This record gives sequence, structure tokens and C-alpha cells, in this order.
Amino acid sequence: MYNSRIIAVVGATGSQGGGLVRAILADPASDFRARAITRKANGEKADALRKLGAEVVEADLDNEASLAKAFDGAYGAYCVTNYWEHMTPAKEVSQARNMAQAAKTAKVEHVIWSTLEDTRLRVPLTDSRMPTLMEKYKVPHFDAKGDADVLFAEAGVPTTYLLTTFYWDNFVYFGMGPKKGPDGKYSITMPMGNARLSGIASEDIGKCALGIFKQGKQWIGKRVGIAGDHVTGAQMAAAMSKALGKEVAYNVVTPEMFRGFGFPGADDLGNMFQYYTEFEKEFSAARSLDTSRSLNPELLDFNSWLAKYKDRIPEA
Ligand SMILES: NC(=O)c1ccc[n+]([C@@H]2O[C@H](COP(=O)([O-])OP(=O)(O)OC[C@H]3O[C@@H](n4cnc5c(N)ncnc54)[C@H](OP(=O)(O)O)[C@@H]3O)[C@@H](O)[C@H]2O)c1
Repeated sequence: MYNSRIIAVVGATGSQGGGLVRAILADPASDFRARAITRKANGEKADALRKLGAEVVEADLDNEASLAKAFDGAYGAYCVTNYWEHMTPAKEVSQARNMAQAAKTAKVEHVIWSTLEDTRLRVPLTDSRMPTLMEKYKVPHFDAKGDADVLFAEAGVPTTYLLTTFYWDNFVYFGMGPKKGPDGKYSITMPMGNARLSGIASEDIGKCALGIFKQGKQWIGKRVGIAGDHVTGAQMAAAMSKALGKEVAYNVVTPEMFRGFGFPGADDLGNMFQYYTEFEKEFSAARSLDTSRSLNPELLDFNSWLAKYKDRIPEA
């Protein structure tokens, strides 16, 4: 039947889920329909999705029954948590459990769980190269997602484990864009030395997810990593200098300095960058550009992301 299969999208008003809803709506030839899930069905973002043609339903990740209702009748579900809203790993795990159980109740046929590596598999808590945080984690917003992987398998829901990565949109929205120093020169600051960072345009996460739903069953039970490019800080700074028409330097700091910046989550992100750096090979190998492009032929590399979004990078 034409337009018959519903994909229920958690985080539809956000970056990952919003990208998926837009990708589904932009592809009327596919037989998928988008059901956008939000806590605020009457909010502006929900309205915008409704106007584009999405069905909008309300559910809360803290309420399993509301999720089961939102997943009811859906073929697929995109499941994502927002760690940064609460910065509590146990809450992230509990929200993932609610999604897994709700998908089971609703008999969803294909779940995509947006996850990240459990960094403790490579840096056990006894490893002192980076501090242990909140007693149980090295990179809490990665490790909690890794902890949650098993919940989908235990619930018996057909799941694809989607390993996302650093959004370049962080240069626009997450305070990571070029900053003017006391000498009047601009720089981006990252504790990554000469290592390559696997990055992606956040809109491409949803587009890749749509590719996974379309390719279907072959991805069930699999882990698939995605990225748009693997580029060093120096390469990103050089590309920004060209795109923005002003010199942007790469300000290399140590992970320890980054952890000491003191903003909420600086220690988590400092550990994350250290992990990206010290496991550069493994991290990028888990995120094949070819596979990402086969899921999403429109995949942006860093230069094409910059060309599209450079005007949104704030002057600071
Ligand atoms: N920034 C990065 O570079 C990066 C890279 C990889 C992974 N991540 C991960 O991405 C996740 C965030 O995804 P995002 O960037 O797409 O988020 P986002 O743009 O900040 O939007 C958050 C979304 O989550 C929904 N949400 C949050 N709490 C909810 C709840 N209790 N019930 C229902 N919906 C809820 C929000 O919906 P409403 O507000 O409309 O209800 C909203 O749609 C984080 O866990 C982060 O660790 C980030």
C-alpha cells in the first residue's frame, strides 16, 4: 500500500529526529509516513512539522505507557535520548528502557536506537589516563547509551544500533564556534592534537536512519556507525578560514585543560575528546564514509557542510 508504514520518531523536534522526519517527508515515493513524537504537541516546532505533513503525537520518555501509545501501529521507531537536558546517566538508561519496552508492547518491527560506544570497554574505570566521573563512567553520555544497548536486545525488539558522532552543528549551537582571543584572532579550541575527528551534519543522521529503514531487515541486530568526514582540527580551522573569509586558528589544548574549563559537562566532553583522540583509528573505522553514503547519497563532507551552514556560525 502506498504511504502505509509509519515511522514513529522520538526527538522529532530536535536535531536527529527532526532530520529523520524531514527526510521521510521529503521522500514521498517511499512508503513511509512520519509520526513526530514530542512533549509539546502545541509547540512551535511541532506546528512546523505538522505543516510539513507529519502526524504529531505527545509522549514523554519518562512515561512508558505514553510511548507505547505513540508507537502503536508503527512499523518503525527511531529512539533517541537527550542526555544534555538532565545530565543523569541513570535517567538516560531508564528512558531507553521505556522506549525498548514500549516498542515491545507495540510490536514495532524495526527500531533504530541512537547510541554511542561504551568507552569503558577500552578505558576501564581502573585506567587513570582520564578521571572516572560520577563513580561509574569515563564518558557518561557515551557510557549510559552503551549501557542501554542491552535493554533493546533483552526486550526482544528488532533493533539496529546506530552509532552517531560529533555534529558539526556544535560549531553553530553548542558554543564551539570560532572565538576571538585577546589578540583579536579567531580560533576553535579542541583537545585533539593531530587526530582526526569523525564528524557529521546532524541532518545526515536522520537521512542515514531513513536509509536503514528502507534497506530494512538486513540491518536488524547490527551496529552501524556513520560519519560525513574524518578531519583534523587543523583541517577544520583551515576550511573555516576559507569559508568565513577570516583567519581561524586551531587552538590545541590538552584534555586536562578542557576538563578544567568548568562549564557543565566540561569533564565529560574532555574525556570524550581524549577518547576520540586516543582511539582515533577504532572510532573512525567504526564509521565508514562509504556505508554512510550508501545509506544517504546526499551525505555532506565537512566542506559541503560549511558551504551550506557557514552563515549560521555565530560571530563571537
Ligand atoms: N551534539 C553532538 O555532537 C552529539 C553527537 C552524538 C550524539 N549526541 C546525542 O544526541 C542526543 C540528543 O539528540 P538531539 O541532538 O537530536 O537533541 P536535541 O536537538 O537537543 O532535541 C532533543 C529532543 O529530545 C526530545 N526529548 C527530550 N526529552 C524528552 C522526553 N522526556 N520525552 C520526550 N521527548 C524528549 C525533545 O522533544 P520535546 O522537547 O519536543 O519534547 C527534542 O525533540 C544526546 O543524547 C546526545 O548525547 C549528540
